[in-house]
Amino acid sequence: MSYYLPETVDCNGDTFKVFITKEEIEARVSLLGKKLDKDFEGKRPIFIGILNGAFIFLADIMRSVSIPCEVDFMKLSSYGDEKVSSGQVTELKEIDAKVKGRHVVLVEDIVDTGLSMKYIVERMNSYDPASVSVVTLLHKKDATKHEVQIDYVGFEIPTKFVLGYGLDFAQEGRNLAQIYVLDSEQES
Ligand code: PRP
Repeated sequence: MSYYLPETVDCNGDTFKVFITKEEIEARVSLLGKKLDKDFEGKRPIFIGILNGAFIFLADIMRSVSIPCEVDFMKLSSYGDEKVSSGQVTELKEIDAKVKGRHVVLVEDIVDTGLSMKYIVERMNSYDPASVSVVTLLHKKDATKHEVQIDYVGFEIPTKFVLGYGLDFAQEGRNLAQIYVLDSEQES
């Protein structure tokens, strides 16, 4: 398979540079997969990907676990087409699976303010699952204002706008195979 791996990329008028390489992502995803294998052995977890951003990370993390598991999706939007969160969560697609009594693993691409994850965890808990765990590839710890539960983190990152590996800027850039940062923000 060939991947889209430019050194820099122009997206909606801004220039982005490589921030986390494909190799770094692969190594981290592999490690997280091993942890999930161990922690959920015999529990047949259901991975719930939060669309759209999580679709690539979800695909990779699921292929890095070897225990029996299932998948479903929920779709939310909090950013719209902007670089900062709108402060409001809009639910665009509910899950189809019945999660009562199940071990739920929520899979996100990024936790920023924490607003989306707080909303999702509360929603999942209302279904009376056996457990709810949270995996996020990226966590902007300094930007997180809402108290959120995060059990597995790929990378703690500074409060900078990032793109690629599922993350977009006004819907573009999700197809980049690694993570990029705004060129002007890289040295700050
Ligand atoms: C992004 C991301 C998370 C959320 C994180 O989604 O995928 O769901 O924002 O931000 P928060 O912690 O401040 O809530 P977005 O609304 O951009 O939709 P998308 O996944 O379709 O890109």
